[in-house]
Amino acid sequence: MHRRRTRAARRLAARHRRGQVRRDRAARTRRGRAADGAKACTSHLNGKAVNPCAVPVGDLRPTDEVTTIEGLADTVDEDLHPMQQAWLDHDVVQCGYCQPGQIMAAVALVRRVAAEGREITDDDLDGLRNICRCGTYVRIREAIRAGAEQM
Ligand code: FES
Repeated sequence: MHRRRTRAARRLAARHRRGQVRRDRAARTRRGRAADGAKACTSHLNGKAVNPCAVPVGDLRPTDEVTTIEGLADTVDEDLHPMQQAWLDHDVVQCGYCQPGQIMAAVALVRRVAAEGREITDDDLDGLRNICRCGTYVRIREAIRAGAEQM
């Protein structure tokens, strides 16, 4: 028997497919976007946020530790890093392009602030310079605060 989906069911299925695409897009390091200021490639070099497309390979030492979004969860031996989970919980992602860099910048910020023995402030969040062209900044800030509580 052939069953037709209702318009609402088709719309819901499409939303789920788009959500999956957005989550997939948020799980891969972006290439070469530091030059235009977006910082979508943000990764960690010895725990600090860097834009790898702006770091000459010759400047790296064999002992340097490089972590990309793909390896972030491994740093906590979980399927997802707490910041990634916070991103999902707060449904941050829109198109997803900037999100790997946003998450990596957020984790580096939270670690730095914790090392300084204090809580994250609005000034700290204002200091993040990763650009989101979809304008998800409110959800990004909420997710960073939530993720920080779990780190
Ligand atoms: S979610 Fe689209 S650029 Fe940030």
